[in-house]
Amino acid sequence: MTEPVPPAPDLTLFLDLAPDTGSMGSEVREGLTDRPKWLPSKYFYDATGSALFDRICELEEYYPTRTEQAIIDGMLPELARLLEGDVVLLEYGSGSSQKTRQLLERLPGIRTYVPIDISKEHLLTAGRALQMEFPHLEVLPVCADYGQQIPFPWHEPHLSHLRHARHMVFFPGSTIGNFTHPEAIAFLGRMASLVGPGGFVLLGADLVKETGVLEAAYDDAEGVTAAFNRNILTHINRQLGSDFDPQGFRHRVFYDTVADRIEMHLVADRAMEVHFPDGPIVLDVGESIRTEYSHKYRIEEVAAMADEAGLDVARVWTDERQWFSVQLLQAR
Ligand code: AVI
Repeated sequence: MTEPVPPAPDLTLFLDLAPDTGSMGSEVREGLTDRPKWLPSKYFYDATGSALFDRICELEEYYPTRTEQAIIDGMLPELARLLEGDVVLLEYGSGSSQKTRQLLERLPGIRTYVPIDISKEHLLTAGRALQMEFPHLEVLPVCADYGQQIPFPWHEPHLSHLRHARHMVFFPGSTIGNFTHPEAIAFLGRMASLVGPGGFVLLGADLVKETGVLEAAYDDAEGVTAAFNRNILTHINRQLGSDFDPQGFRHRVFYDTVADRIEMHLVADRAMEVHFPDGPIVLDVGESIRTEYSHKYRIEEVAAMADEAGLDVARVWTDERQWFSVQLLQAR
């Protein structure tokens, strides 16, 4: 199952770890039969959800994307000095690798780029586009999900030169905040073992700030985030054959100042029975389904989580308002 497929003519290698995409039904049922109800936020991202998320990133209220980009823009000369020698850049949830282009253009040490994504089609299309844009870069796509260990075939003769290069995982956007703390530590640990001792993780982490700013970022005036939230039900209907009425739910967002996280919910505006092929789910009027956590951090909290995962903080960059951070972590 973990055998590398023969190199595609235009890509040196494509590693397909056959991520399990068949567990949606059981995960959705687990969340909808729990009290209170919840859904895994990874199911936001079908084609419509990914397009809505791209629109969110452009919204006036949604500060993380543009703040992170400005931080990265300013820090790249320093990062280039810190990363001496040849670098293998790896990226989880690479999507269209849009944010990565900034790094590929301005970090001359990057010889190899390993995008890792669950969507095979997206991965190969983006990989091929990058390979054409950066002809001297070696692009090695890996189809896998966040939970899988990635056994790199560095022993393959045509890849053995990578064994001694420095590895750096790029995990931008504060996607780490969508995990619970134990999940985030476990994931950071997987990234640490992926890069090996001395390797780096370049992490985007959103910071704790005023509640009003946070709540507006997840409840924009145009209603794009509300549409993104409701789309999880449309996606589930299409994949599982259920009959949710997404318009029968209200988008609700609040910041929990104790847990330091945004919670996004869908609240039923009437009592309803939703039909699934394996049996109905009943919702009371006003009953809520939690669809997302988005944790916000203090700088020292990221350091504590990183430490538990076997990573030391090498450098932290922030913006003037200290709204967002980009952190260079190094594996012990
Ligand atoms: C992908 N992730 C980092 C986004 C966030 O801010 O937690 C997802 C998102 N949800 C609503 N708006 C954006």
